[in-house]
Amino acid sequence: MSKENLYLCMGSACHQMGVYEVLPAIQRLLAEYQVDDRIEFKGSFCLECCSHGIVMKFRDTLFLHINPENVEEKFKQEILPEIQKAVGSTV
Ligand code: FES
Repeated sequence: MSKENLYLCMGSACHQMGVYEVLPAIQRLLAEYQVDDRIEFKGSFCLECCSHGIVMKFRDTLFLHINPENVEEKFKQEILPEIQKAVGSTV
């Protein structure tokens, strides 16, 4: 089964905003919602909307204004639905 890529911007602006706190939270959430077998979670270069960071990307959709405080909410409300639309959901 091929995996879809989910990107987390590791560019310097996003890095300063706390990527290293967001990263483990996303990993945990991918496992918690059982999509980690369908999703390849990757770091990316600057996604070119630094002033709206932290930025994540799935397919052609950008997710903006992620931070260590709102990451769980952002994941559940914005990112997870996009993933489930794309890969199908059994959850
Ligand atoms: S550093 Fe993340 S969008 Fe530029």
